[in-house]
Amino acid sequence: MEYALIIGAKSDIGRALAARYARAGYNLYLAARKSEELTREADNLRIRYNVRVATLEFDLLDTGNHEEIYKQLSPRPAGTICVAGYLGDQKIAEIDFSEARKIIDTNFTGWVSLLNIIAEDYESSGSGFIIGISSVAGDRGRRSNTIYGSSKAAFTTYLSGLRHRLHSSGVVVLTVKPGFVRTRMTEGMDLPEKLTAKPEEVAEDVFRAHRKARAIVYTRWYWRWIMWVITRMPDRLFQRISI
Ligand SMILES: NC(=O)c1ccc[n+]([C@@H]2O[C@H](COP(=O)([O-])OP(=O)(O)OC[C@H]3O[C@@H](n4cnc5c(N)ncnc54)[C@H](OP(=O)(O)O)[C@@H]3O)[C@@H](O)[C@H]2O)c1
Repeated sequence: MEYALIIGAKSDIGRALAARYARAGYNLYLAARKSEELTREADNLRIRYNVRVATLEFDLLDTGNHEEIYKQLSPRPAGTICVAGYLGDQKIAEIDFSEARKIIDTNFTGWVSLLNIIAEDYESSGSGFIIGISSVAGDRGRRSNTIYGSSKAAFTTYLSGLRHRLHSSGVVVLTVKPGFVRTRMTEGMDLPEKLTAKPEEVAEDVFRAHRKARAIVYTRWYWRWIMWVITRMPDRLFQRISI
């Protein structure tokens, strides 16, 4: 069976995706910083799903190493799932550019560095899939997450461009837009229970959308309609609401 490369495999959504793709029979490359912390996870996946699992060290910000790390993978992964992300601190990012840059570089620049290499490879081999976890935050800028939201908007647009470019080569590109998800990233936040998904639900939605060769999936599904309303709201009204 083919390999899927999961970048950000230590994230809560990444772990759920690893389990979902292993359950479907995919062998896995689990990439993360401090990847040794994934050893037990990898063992569990091997035993439970009878698949091959390798872990590898990967830092999105270390762009100089991306090509070498990818080219070392043998066999090359049939698909790449981009999960890692950095919410950061909006208040700090407003006064300290290094925090703003870290948010932008993690959520956007790092992916451009890696996916340019992978897109080239998939395009020349005429197959492959790329799944990018973006966010509903990229659909409209808000004061509480201006930098994170705009970095996700850039990532969403980049994925859209890749999809356009790679369509004729038979490469599938799926953009995932989660709403609220209960993970380490949102720990301690007062999220509305009814609007908040579990990582496993996100993984299931991603897997289903991938199988149906969808271009964009909102997860949970109703975020499409929430964002439909939010993105059409006139500025004069939008300025007055606190979201
Ligand atoms: N949770 C939500 O409500 C929500 C909503 C919309 C979109 N998302 C997106 O979903 C994705 C997964 O996030 P999550 O909710 O599962 O949160 P999470 O558990 O905090 O995962 C974030 C992951 O990104 C990794 N990461 C950060 N900087 C990195 C770098 N420079 N290189 C490699 N890995 C890096 C972190 O690695 P370490 O483990 O080494 O720190 C962590 O594993 C993110 O892209 C996030 O923006 C989340």
